[in-house]
Amino acid sequence: MSATPVKVAVTGAAGQIGYSLLFRIAAGDLLGPDTPVQLRLLEITPALKALEGVVMELDDCAFPLLDSVEIGDDANTIFDGANLALLVGARPRSKGMERGDLLEANGAIFTAQGKALNDHAADDIRIGVTGNPANTNALIAKTNAPDIPAERFSALTRLDHNRAISQLAAKTGARVTDITKMTIWGNHSATQYPDIFHAEIAGRNAAEVVGDQAWIADDFIPTVAKRGAAIIEARGASSAASAASATIDAARDWLLGSAEGDWVSMAVSSDGSYGVPEGLISSFPVVTKGGDWEIVQGLDIDDFSRAKIDASVAELVEERDAVTQLGLI
Ligand code: NAD
Ligand code: LMR
Repeated sequence: MSATPVKVAVTGAAGQIGYSLLFRIAAGDLLGPDTPVQLRLLEITPALKALEGVVMELDDCAFPLLDSVEIGDDANTIFDGANLALLVGARPRSKGMERGDLLEANGAIFTAQGKALNDHAADDIRIGVTGNPANTNALIAKTNAPDIPAERFSALTRLDHNRAISQLAAKTGARVTDITKMTIWGNHSATQYPDIFHAEIAGRNAAEVVGDQAWIADDFIPTVAKRGAAIIEARGASSAASAASATIDAARDWLLGSAEGDWVSMAVSSDGSYGVPEGLISSFPVVTKGGDWEIVQGLDIDDFSRAKIDASVAELVEERDAVTQLGLI
């Protein structure tokens, strides 16, 4: 077992995603069976008591890899020395709240957390944002952390990526492990573009295997893009275990590397690739290794895909302009 534990900070730790995520991290699903972990859990003050209960349960699991757990409501303390920060906690949309209100409420959270990470996190910090609106929250945190390289911030589109693989597997009868090179482009929202034109099923082009453009346009894309809303409708609460699982997948692949011959979807700070304005946190196909990512280059984008990518990126530009106007970035 490695001698040095990794400090993993999780915000919103007493929430529903936290309730699944923390136990998976402590069990070694994120960093592997040889790396001990120190959990640093951030909550708002009224949720600290509930969080104490979660910590009691973590204790009761006697996880061999769990070195320590620290909880608190001060981001400066909780992020101190953190190597990985999973920003899950966010203000949900409540009745009567407009989109601008939501951006503003979350802007305040991610401004403060960006600053705290900037001032207190370890030099090798990586930050994954799950809390919605995830891409723009990551943009706000990144902009408020000028000393942390922009490449260290990402937002979660891995859940959409996993959903897309699952839908494609169900349609074709393939195993999920046969499906590679899936891509989610753009925003983690209903405008996202799940792209199977470069995906492969056991090495064959997925769109050709499907052979049904109407299914792709009218069924597959909206099913994946609106899956979050469908789960809220069915469960009465947003996806939690699957979101935690995707948060683990994304962070694990970022730190330990994506599979050879495959890529993953991650919303990262655009370098201008595929015409996405520089600096926007937008989802791309990326290859990851040792805590770094590279956008997969050279994919042919036809007119159908171009229009879908452009629509989602336009929404990200709108969100960026709204938080700029609010003085958050
Ligand atoms: P939840 O309401 O159950 O939990 C959120 C927790 O965050 C609460 O315990 C709350 O007290 C805490 N919190 C609020 N402000 C905080 C702050 N400033 N610092 C620390 N903690 C804070 O919600 P959940 O179901 O766990 O979902 C969390 C977020 O993840 C939501 O924004 C949700 O929309 C989002 N989500 C994203 C994806 C994705 O794929 N990107 C998927 C599912 C859910
Ligand atoms: C999801 O994709 O399941 C969530 O982002 C939905 C939501 O709005 O919380």
